[in-house]
Amino acid sequence: MAAVETQLDSYTATQSGCPARLNEAIRYSVLAPGKRLRPLLALLACEAVGGNWQDALPAACAVEFVHVYSLIHDDLPAMDDDTLRRGQPTCHLKFDEATAILAGDSLQMLAIEVICRDMPADVAAHCCQILAEVAGRQHLVGGQADDLAAEGRYGPPDLGDRSELDFLKYIHRRKTGALIEGSLRLGGVAGGATLDHLRRLAQYGQAVGLAFQIIDDCLDVEATSEQLGKNTRKDNTLGKLTYPSLLGLDESRQLADRLSGEAISAIAVFGDRARKLAELATFVVERRS
Ligand code: IPE
Ligand code: IPE
Ligand code: MG
Ligand code: MG
Ligand code: MG
Repeated sequence: MAAVETQLDSYTATQSGCPARLNEAIRYSVLAPGKRLRPLLALLACEAVGGNWQDALPAACAVEFVHVYSLIHDDLPAMDDDTLRRGQPTCHLKFDEATAILAGDSLQMLAIEVICRDMPADVAAHCCQILAEVAGRQHLVGGQADDLAAEGRYGPPDLGDRSELDFLKYIHRRKTGALIEGSLRLGGVAGGATLDHLRRLAQYGQAVGLAFQIIDDCLDVEATSEQLGKNTRKDNTLGKLTYPSLLGLDESRQLADRLSGEAISAIAVFGDRARKLAELATFVVERRS
């Protein structure tokens, strides 16, 4: 969506005090061709509850900044050690590891900055609370930590009393699902959603968020790096716990389809205002990139 691209571009314009190399790394990663799924979800959630999508634009960009930070750090040698992202060399290869870490750090704070500066104070406070919750140690960061632990790099992973499949669901809901759920809630809050509306948006986000990562796991096996703009067949090499490795591709895709259906049911009460959100739930499972 053009408005998102324009806003991302203007939010990442250089600021005094920010070294040119650091800002270049930030813009290199943010402005690369991503799907912009999370900003779109935020804008559509705002519309679904009767708001103007323009009111959700700062939060939509903020969630993309947090997402891009998580990708830059996810690609680092210490994590997934990837060389290709969004069709171009990963940030730490194009620049260097320290600059990539710092670009990610900057993006987290930029997310907070734009929300606090460009949204009404009460809405901004609520949005910051949501973002802190879904991107913090209980969710995105905790999920990433357990994703690495599940490789066995710290010894046998601590599953608690979970089955392997439940542990995997727990990882995916946190490392990817939470930020997607957060995107919906941010858009809802910007649009003045009622508590019941927020609950429904969150339900949709949880289902779509898990489905999204299940399909990401499937595409790692099925797609080419040209289609995805990132390296494929990495998960198996790294010994990741994934849906296709536990359930196989067919069952994984069936599960993602069921989740997409659940997401669509959760927002049925919004009627025609949520038509695009429903279409997006289908796109998430049918996508090829
Ligand atoms: C990739 O997310 C990382 C995951 C959470 C699976 P996307 O597939 O949304 O990546 P971009 O934003 O389009 O590059
Ligand atoms: C990434 O999951 C999740 C986050 C970045 C939080 P993956 O490691 O599967 O994402 P890709 O496949 O590298 O995009
Ligand atoms: Mg990863
Ligand atoms: Mg990765
Ligand atoms: Mg992946």
